[in-house]
Amino acid sequence: MQILRPMNKTEYTSWLTAALPAYAADKVASDRWSREEATELARKEYDQLLPMGLETENNFFLAVLDESGKAVGSLWFTEAPRIGYKVAYVFDIIIHQQYRRQGHASRALRALEVVATQRGLAGVALHVFGNNVGAKALYSELGYAPTNINLYKSLSPPAHVSDRADR
Ligand SMILES: CC(C)(COP(=O)(O)OP(=O)(O)OC[C@H]1O[C@@H](n2cnc3c(N)ncnc32)[C@H](O)[C@@H]1OP(=O)(O)O)[C@@H](O)C(=O)NCCC(=O)NCCS
Repeated sequence: MQILRPMNKTEYTSWLTAALPAYAADKVASDRWSREEATELARKEYDQLLPMGLETENNFFLAVLDESGKAVGSLWFTEAPRIGYKVAYVFDIIIHQQYRRQGHASRALRALEVVATQRGLAGVALHVFGNNVGAKALYSELGYAPTNINLYKSLSPPAHVSDRADR
């Protein structure tokens, strides 16, 4: 059963249309960007990463297929260097809402392991936002381990540095 196949142009366009606002929203939800600037920053970042869109070198855009061959999601990865070796770096995996919790992401990521091995890559790396409980559970179940963790504690009400400095 084929689980991954290259996206076509139409699929890429609809993927991008959904991926950009989703990425911007993740950045806002994780307090990285303000709501006002998020859309523009996301667009800039994607423009830099994908100057040639679907044809950008070393970037692989795949449709995730169900048992009948219908596209139920998408996966974008690149080959990224580590010290002395290369890995598959997953920029994005998304399963369309109505197909979630049916094992599609698990199957897609396992299929990616096969693709990566065939390409001589040493592993699969990715980033997940701390508030993405579902994705974290998925990756943990598949055997992904954290390599670095950013922590944050919100101070409420916000400490006013200049007020406090004199006390
Ligand atoms: C995260 C995502 C890709 C998971 O896709 P999926 O096809 O539903 O995942 P699977 O069905 O393969 O899930 C496998 C296991 O992962 C865990 N899991 C997946 N989604 C979960 C959720 N929302 N909450 C808790 N656990 C979850 C469960 O352990 C699940 O097994 P179970 O259904 O038997 O309990 C999907 O929810 C999605 O597209 N989310 C929006 C985009 C996104 O966040 N992508 C990841 C960016 S890092």
